[in-house]
Amino acid sequence: MKKENLRPIFWEKEGLKLLDQRQIPGKKEWFTAKNSEDAIFAIKEMVVRGAPAIAITGLFGAVLEFKKFSKKPEYQEFQTILSKILGSRPTAVNLRRAFEELSSIFPKEEYDKVSLSELQQKSEEFAIHVFEEDIRNNLALAKNGVGLFPSSPSKLKIITHCNTGALATAGHGTALGVIRSLKEAGHDLIVYADETRPYLQGARLTAWELMEEGIENYLITDSMAGWLMSSQKIDAVIVGVDRVAANGDSANKIGTYPLAVLAKHHGIPFYIAATEKSFDFKITDGSQIPIEMRTQDEVTRLNFLKNEKGEAILSEGVIAPVGVKALNPSFDVTPANLIKAFITEKGIVPPDKIKEFFG
Ligand code: MRU
Repeated sequence: MKKENLRPIFWEKEGLKLLDQRQIPGKKEWFTAKNSEDAIFAIKEMVVRGAPAIAITGLFGAVLEFKKFSKKPEYQEFQTILSKILGSRPTAVNLRRAFEELSSIFPKEEYDKVSLSELQQKSEEFAIHVFEEDIRNNLALAKNGVGLFPSSPSKLKIITHCNTGALATAGHGTALGVIRSLKEAGHDLIVYADETRPYLQGARLTAWELMEEGIENYLITDSMAGWLMSSQKIDAVIVGVDRVAANGDSANKIGTYPLAVLAKHHGIPFYIAATEKSFDFKITDGSQIPIEMRTQDEVTRLNFLKNEKGEAILSEGVIAPVGVKALNPSFDVTPANLIKAFITEKGIVPPDKIKEFFG
């Protein structure tokens, strides 16, 4: 990553400092979470978003809450704090996996022996570990992703969806991390970033990250991908993921599934870049992945920024009749048979091999 200013999460004395992604690209402002309620707000309202960044924010949110106690919370209360944070956004599995790991540091049978300061210190150390591990894993998966392309500098055209970059992770990114590393490896890249209706993560965040990094890119509306694939030689589609089921079905930002169908039709390899933390072997297939339904405002308005009370800050940008009903499923599921392979920190793995691969 060229620019340290793309880093979205800082753990500081005053709390968890988050780059407010609702304001990008217009303004660079910071939101400080001082307790778990602030962290929940930040996750729900997408001050921070992207599965790995959500997990890191949730973990530090729990740490902030533990730090408020003067007496160790009962085990039940400890679990309630985690469940409340976990309820913030349902589709990505990373936060659940992070909390399972955190809980395993304090098993119920041994919880009584743990002091308050141990609870605070070990959970803080764990959150920092997850943050640092995410950057390491992103760099490793990006290196593996680079290996899928010619080793000599080549002209490559890649389509991506949503934002999977430094902003969505602890740093570097997953799908966008591969793209970033391809550029660093000397390839002559053109990236087509889907705008990603309705929340516009592609337009607001991915295009911004690519421009900050000096990577040539074109913003396209989601509906332009078919034209692009039929009229240009596209080398690959690379996207991220929020949860992969045991059979390889993968939930990612709404609009990913149609992109995968188009890629299959045009014979373009469709890759998902993710760390092992996005895999959920507890569920057999994609039908069991909970799909977050978000507010209709994100579809009927182009400006949906909300304040801490949940009130719309701006009401302009209305693009539909007042009172119209709108659907806003925030994710869709791409069936495993449309995915060529997962690009992970441990290597490249096709969907039908993920179980034995991760053992
Ligand atoms: O709703 P968002 O912006 O949190 O959705 C993000 C995505 O769908 C990403 O592709 C996914 O979380 C992977 S981020 C490395």
